[in-house]
Amino acid sequence: MVVNARREDRLQSLCADIGADQSAHVVGDAADSAVVHAMLDAARERFDREADLVVVNAGRGLAGSVTTSDPTEWEEMIRTNLLGAATLMRAAAARMLAAGPDPANGDAWLRSPRDIVVLGSNVGRHISPFSSMYGGTKFAVNSLAEAMRREIGPKGVRVSLIEPGVVKSEFQQVAGYDPQGFGEFMDSIGPVLDPEDIARLIGFIVSQPAHVHVNDAVIRAVRQEYP
Ligand SMILES: NC(=O)c1ccc[n+]([C@@H]2O[C@H](COP(=O)([O-])OP(=O)(O)OC[C@H]3O[C@@H](n4cnc5c(N)ncnc54)[C@H](OP(=O)(O)O)[C@@H]3O)[C@@H](O)[C@H]2O)c1
Repeated sequence: MVVNARREDRLQSLCADIGADQSAHVVGDAADSAVVHAMLDAARERFDREADLVVVNAGRGLAGSVTTSDPTEWEEMIRTNLLGAATLMRAAAARMLAAGPDPANGDAWLRSPRDIVVLGSNVGRHISPFSSMYGGTKFAVNSLAEAMRREIGPKGVRVSLIEPGVVKSEFQQVAGYDPQGFGEFMDSIGPVLDPEDIARLIGFIVSQPAHVHVNDAVIRAVRQEYP
């Protein structure tokens, strides 16, 4: 597994958990095309073949709507959530298609599942006026993932969109949610999801037989009725 983030200490500790012989890390901004290609190169070098599973995960939230969110954060969020996601999706798709096998040439593709899994959001499917700038980036990701599924699904590559509700992570702090108000909201719908719940869903999607595609998955805490 090749992991990317901007904080190297986190990556080092994650790779130590995974095992040095099974992992590599690339430090840097996921919206930087050079970083994206360095990740895919690292996978090829470490495992001697192109990546067959790419998770498009880097992203950040932003508290507020068009009228209430901090506009100085807009550009960075759009760059990470939308341009970064599109850059990685494009690079991963190009390499997976080039590495084949092509369904036009027989059944070999059924023995080589290839997956691009994209983290959207519940607010990229259901409009939340309280998180509408962030939601806008995830609506965009939603449409890119479905468009890419239509484009390269017929060529044997699965593009899947996961749209989580509230997951307890660093997300809430980075987004700038009011700790007390959002904490009370989380208590009222909890227990909320953990990152492990999302990882388990990704595992389910990519472990299906190669001809089966669970391409769109909304996952929420049972008691989260909205959005
Ligand atoms: N938590 C939720 O409630 C929730 C709900 C729906 C969807 N999502 C989506 O799920 C994904 C993961 O979120 P999370 O909950 O795990 O948030 P998180 O705890 O804040 O983690 C975000 C991760 O992405 C990395 N990252 C952020 N910006 C980056 C950049 N520009 N370049 C490289 N790495 C970057 C961060 O590492 P560094 O800071 O070290 O770079 C961190 O590892 C995001 O796309 C988010 O929008 C989250």
